[in-house]
Amino acid sequence: MSDPRLDDILEDLVKRAAREYRMDADAIQQIFSDVFANSTELTKALQKNPTPRQLRKNPHLKKAAQAARKKIYYQLRQYRPKTTGLTEKHTEHPPILAKNASQQEAEQWLKDIINTHISTQERRIEQSHPLESIINRHPTPRSIVDVGCGVHPLQALHHLPENCISHYTALDRDRWSIEALKHYADWRNDGLLSAHVWDLSSGWQNISDLIDDNLYDLALIQKLIPVISRRNDALLETLAQIPARRAIVTGSRMAMVRRKQIHKRELGIIQRFLEQANWTIEQQIQTEDEVGWLVRTDQEKGSIS
Ligand SMILES: C[S@@+](CC[C@H](N)C(=O)[O-])C[C@H]1O[C@@H](n2cnc3c(N)ncnc32)[C@H](O)[C@@H]1O
Repeated sequence: MSDPRLDDILEDLVKRAAREYRMDADAIQQIFSDVFANSTELTKALQKNPTPRQLRKNPHLKKAAQAARKKIYYQLRQYRPKTTGLTEKHTEHPPILAKNASQQEAEQWLKDIINTHISTQERRIEQSHPLESIINRHPTPRSIVDVGCGVHPLQALHHLPENCISHYTALDRDRWSIEALKHYADWRNDGLLSAHVWDLSSGWQNISDLIDDNLYDLALIQKLIPVISRRNDALLETLAQIPARRAIVTGSRMAMVRRKQIHKRELGIIQRFLEQANWTIEQQIQTEDEVGWLVRTDQEKGSIS
């Protein structure tokens, strides 16, 4: 429906929503237009020829506007929105990266996959990465475990010096992301990356068995602690048992849905976790997108000098 009587109202609603939500105005416009077009109550209200003033106050219009805002909200809350770009066509499985794909084809595939996940999408590849600030100042990690990784390993590997690590274990409960990482691991064909569908609630036994001395040099726990703390606080105890000597723990600077800074809240949550886990802060980490710390874990104190 494109009823000219709604044009000004829609424009105002879209402008206001674009100021509030992390979605571009065109996408917001589309959602409002679709929801309005599908509202039979609003269509009926328009048939009664209301004045523009009456229309703005019409309860059915208000209801439709509310429904559109809700839709925007829920779309933004998904790590991999199923309605946009590549994931629209690949809802169940990610596109395959052929084992014999060229470097150029692989680069395009990487770009596409990175863009599907909200966390990696906002952490742009040309920006600095938490790994860069620690890699030359501490013993270079040989083994990395990336927890709640999404498709982040595709980015992290880009920021690690060549031949620096021998094991990169990627863990997430999201099957789609892990399947994508497996394609990439197969394409690399160097045994460096292994990816596993895994939920934090299942603990670490099978994971520590993957590595020689049962302890990884470095855990990447990026943008995860606030998520777990919100959803299932009790799981933080399991997280504190992670089999790793050091960890990069971060939170986001910006909220996922609204255009607002949340770094102080995120740092507060992470700090409480570090105190409870008794981990020691070694270095502050700040990038354009993330804030957090490099820490030594309890596990390290107990097992190595
Ligand atoms: C905010 S994203 C961060 C992704 C990645 N660490 C990054 O920084 O790009 C949080 C990720 O944690 C995963 N996750 C949430 N709860 C989890 C759980 N209980 N076990 C495993 N993964 C989990 C989600 O599937 C999602 O990919």
